[in-house]
Amino acid sequence: RKRIGILTSGGDCPGLNAVIRAVVSYATTEYNWEVRGIPYATQGLLERKSVVLNQYGLERHGTDPLLSMGGTILGSLNKGNTEAIAEEIIAGYHDLELDALIAIGGDGSLALLQNLAQRGNWNLVAVPKTIDNDVAHTALSIGFNSAVSTILDALDRLSYTAASHDRVMVVEVMGRTTGHLALHSGIVGGADAILIPEIPYSLNNLCKQIQHLRTLCGRKFAIIVVAEGAKTAEGEGRYYKDALGEVRLRGIGEYIATEIEQRVGVEARVTVLGHVQRGGAPSALDRLIATAFGKSAVDMVAAENYGKMVAWQNERVVTVDLDDVFAHSPRLVDPNGFWTETARSLGIYIGEPN
Ligand code: F6P
Repeated sequence: RKRIGILTSGGDCPGLNAVIRAVVSYATTEYNWEVRGIPYATQGLLERKSVVLNQYGLERHGTDPLLSMGGTILGSLNKGNTEAIAEEIIAGYHDLELDALIAIGGDGSLALLQNLAQRGNWNLVAVPKTIDNDVAHTALSIGFNSAVSTILDALDRLSYTAASHDRVMVVEVMGRTTGHLALHSGIVGGADAILIPEIPYSLNNLCKQIQHLRTLCGRKFAIIVVAEGAKTAEGEGRYYKDALGEVRLRGIGEYIATEIEQRVGVEARVTVLGHVQRGGAPSALDRLIATAFGKSAVDMVAAENYGKMVAWQNERVVTVDLDDVFAHSPRLVDPNGFWTETARSLGIYIGEPN
């Protein structure tokens, strides 16, 4: 009888619990394995902590609430350097006597785990999650679709108040290095401009777009979706160093709104959606993909198909080599790809053509 571990690593997002639910449900009923939840990712391994997931009311009938629950019941870690304690973490995996580990993470945390797995002889299967949707070789990562829906809800609400007061609404969304979230939510939310890290913007042309809407189209309000990592051609973004010395982004929305007010002479307001985008119940699509990923991850353990990640390609789950995933991550928005061209053809300003 196998004993498998499951953990969630990196920033949380909607749908993590839905993956856990699928893994527990399928592994216990189909294979009769023991599934152990590792709290707080590598921290749990380090401390040799684990909970038997079908012992806490999570057996067959009890797992269903997890389908709709945001966050992760296991807790997560979003911190970088584990090098100094790597050997202890590796030993923790073996002390827990796990036959395999299913890790749900983004490209950063999965790379860290894969490195530990290779050094420590772990059997690792990975499930991609991130609202940024920038893990390579998978069209969807868990959490992205839910976050797009959350932003869409905000944009729908903001459009009404923007129109009532003839204002420019600047909506800052997550996306440090990639703009899939801003691009997709901006398109479905009817944005007039979408600024993303991959395509430099010009304040002059952004302001021209707003003026054009007001004078030529008679539309007195505008919606601008800006990813936190958006930059000008000169690489000008908004950065600061946090208490741990890590470079973080803050204030791009405020900056753009202030510039628009001064240059165009219109009222502008800013909404920073922040971690609202990471919370809440997963969307139907995320639950579907989470279920498919969880089930497939268990089958991969059964087939001893390790060092791989489940991925969503052409409407089905496939497996891809983790090293190949890291070699191509983060997956950037193609400045001349399908969705950017679609946005342009609708007259949305998405930055400067290269
Ligand atoms: O998951 C990625 C992400 O959502 C980024 O877009 C964002 O910058 C980051 O997480 C923030 O993470 P945290 O506040 O947890 O460090």
